[in-house]
Amino acid sequence: MPLRPYIVGNWKMHGTRAMLSEARAIDRAAQRHMKVEVALAPPYTLIHPIHREAEQIMVGAQDCHHEEGGAHTGDISASMVADAGAKFVILGHSERRQNHGESDATVRAKAEAAFAAGLRVIMCVGETEDIREDGRALDHVKAQLKASLPESIEDAGERLTVAYEPVWAIGTGKTATPADIAEMHADIRALLVELLGEEHGREVRILYGGSVKPENAGEILSTPEVGGALVGGASLTADSFMGIALAAG
Ligand code: G3H
Repeated sequence: MPLRPYIVGNWKMHGTRAMLSEARAIDRAAQRHMKVEVALAPPYTLIHPIHREAEQIMVGAQDCHHEEGGAHTGDISASMVADAGAKFVILGHSERRQNHGESDATVRAKAEAAFAAGLRVIMCVGETEDIREDGRALDHVKAQLKASLPESIEDAGERLTVAYEPVWAIGTGKTATPADIAEMHADIRALLVELLGEEHGREVRILYGGSVKPENAGEILSTPEVGGALVGGASLTADSFMGIALAAG
């Protein structure tokens, strides 16, 4: 049975406790729109406060370290975010890959740690503008996904979500065309079936991310193989975020 559309807000480095009222409003609205699965990935500092109050939305983290513990000043492990109430973690986001030098191998190690801690994983992949202009977007994204997922992914397949986020569309107001999204998602689907087998490979939701707004969400979310959205800027207010969720179902 197809899973519900999955609408995930990534607050990035935004949000102090003053934003808890927005999270409450999102949670209340999500209780009225049960056809859609709504989740929020706030900064680490807000995971537990939001988790403690939320009745409907799932709370997650934006990253985690690949080790369980140790001398890693400023880092946080998968089991720590799980302990704070996170049910999932976003990994391989292009802002981590670009700003923190995360390689596919690093992302893979983090995914292994996250699955071992019982978390669901949203694995982000996407091409830069140069790669798309060179005509290498499909091959690049598939290679990135294959190298970022744990080698023995079969058992964790049902806890996996993939997010296709063209790097050039993030925070820019530009979005990929429905035809390009459909082509990319179809290729990702074929790879997931190859890696996870027919049953689990078809169940994994493939989200689109990159300047999704209430105004364009209807068209993006009705594109074949788009199972939801990973939303940055437009997830910061309940009105715009739930406008996207409403467009999903
Ligand atoms: O994780 C979310 C994406 O990076 C999209 O961000 O909606 O602000 O473009 P954006």
